[in-house]
Amino acid sequence: MLLPEELETEIQTMVREAEHVEEKLIDIIYLLQNHFGCFSDVALGHASRLTGKTTVELEELCTFYDFIYRRPVGRFVIHVCDGVACWMHHENSLFQYLCDKLGVGVGEVTEDGLFTVLPTACLGNCHNAPAMLINGKHYGRLTPKKVDEIIDELRENADNIIQCLCR
Ligand code: FES
Repeated sequence: MLLPEELETEIQTMVREAEHVEEKLIDIIYLLQNHFGCFSDVALGHASRLTGKTTVELEELCTFYDFIYRRPVGRFVIHVCDGVACWMHHENSLFQYLCDKLGVGVGEVTEDGLFTVLPTACLGNCHNAPAMLINGKHYGRLTPKKVDEIIDELRENADNIIQCLCR
C-alpha cells in the first residue's frame, strides 16, 4: 500500500534534514500511526524503507514506548496510569473499572470501535491522581462517576474528535 505523496515527502524531508535519523524516528512513527490508525506491519515497512532502519530496530522502539500501537486500537485510546500515586488514590482498580464498563480486556477494541484501554507508566499528573490520558488529553481526580461522564461525553462527540492524537 503506497503512502500519500504528501506524507511520503514529509517523511523524506525529515530524514534528509536530520543530523541523525534516530532523532526523528518517533515523530515518523507517529505520522505513520496517525495515517494508518496504528503502527501496523505495513506502516513498519514504510518506516524501515524511508529511514533505513531495520524492522527489528523499529520493533525495539515500539516495545519501549506505550504510545505506539502495533495492533488496531479504538478511536479513543485510554491510557490509565499504573503508577504508585494513582494506585494509592484509587483502592479499587480504575483500570478494571474501565475494562468492565466497556466490556474489553487490555488492548482490545470495543465492539463500536471507539475505545481501547491500556495501562501506562506515570503520566506526570500525580497531583491529580488517579489519572488517565485519552488521545493526548489529561483527566484527573477520577472517580467512577467522573469516568462515566467522560465516557458518555466521548461517545456523544465521537465524530468530532480526531483519532490517535499522539504527537
Ligand atoms: S502515578 Fe499516576 S500520574 Fe503519576
